[in-house]
Amino acid sequence: MISLTDLKKFKSQGRKFSCLTCYDASFAKAFEAAEIDTILVGDSLGMTIQGHDSTLPVTVQDMVYHTTNVARANKHALIMTDLPFMSYATVNDALQNSRAVMQAGAHVVKIEGGAWLADTVQALTRNGVPVCVHLGLTPQSVHVLGGYRLQAKTLSAAEQLLADCQAVVDAGAALLLLECVPASLAKQVSERFAVPVIGIGAGVDTDGQVLVVQDMLGLTFGKVARFVRNFMAEQSGEHAIVDAIKAYHQAVIEQSFPAPEHSFQVDVK
Ligand code: KIV
Repeated sequence: MISLTDLKKFKSQGRKFSCLTCYDASFAKAFEAAEIDTILVGDSLGMTIQGHDSTLPVTVQDMVYHTTNVARANKHALIMTDLPFMSYATVNDALQNSRAVMQAGAHVVKIEGGAWLADTVQALTRNGVPVCVHLGLTPQSVHVLGGYRLQAKTLSAAEQLLADCQAVVDAGAALLLLECVPASLAKQVSERFAVPVIGIGAGVDTDGQVLVVQDMLGLTFGKVARFVRNFMAEQSGEHAIVDAIKAYHQAVIEQSFPAPEHSFQVDVK
């Protein structure tokens, strides 16, 4: 079974690691066959499974249900579960709701934010809950951000993101996840911090890569984001889905995915 220790070892060896979202037992089994390193039971399930237009309606009970189904079927990957919108607004809420998802089978909880989460990260870590902090485009704040778009494009926003990373790492964060930020900034974060950094739309230099599984299987209806590659398009035959998942894992490890064209190459100024 992949542990946080393995991810740190991978980082020190320069071995990239794969991560995909997963919400059910069938895909969890397929990920086990493909030896996917880490699974994210993401609150993106609000959109991919429940059909909402954001992650905001997702509840802790939803996350517990999906985590249980995934954890039952996959004994290989490190399983990370999102704490959903407003479920970690206080340290006490974060502790109670982390207990629920950890007892359902999560190994790590993911929360979205920055320096203001330092107390929460510290309290969770002290209580045995490893934390991944998701920064950059944080979908639970879509209405504050004004849409799903590239973040940290200006020098001051990039400096703020670096300061946020520093604060949560100092508080004990075990992982960072960067979504939709300039590739050069994600490279800086990955080099500056010892903790493994997972990217989505964050360029080629992060330690791990994550995609929403529906996106990499070509099940996106509407605009496909720049950082997505359809691995299903390259497959045929009766095992096409598992082969696509294996191809994703291989491409991350061989560093052929993401390619520069999947990144935001902007000058931060
Ligand atoms: O919920 C999710 O799927 C996520 C990924 C987009 C990183 O947070």
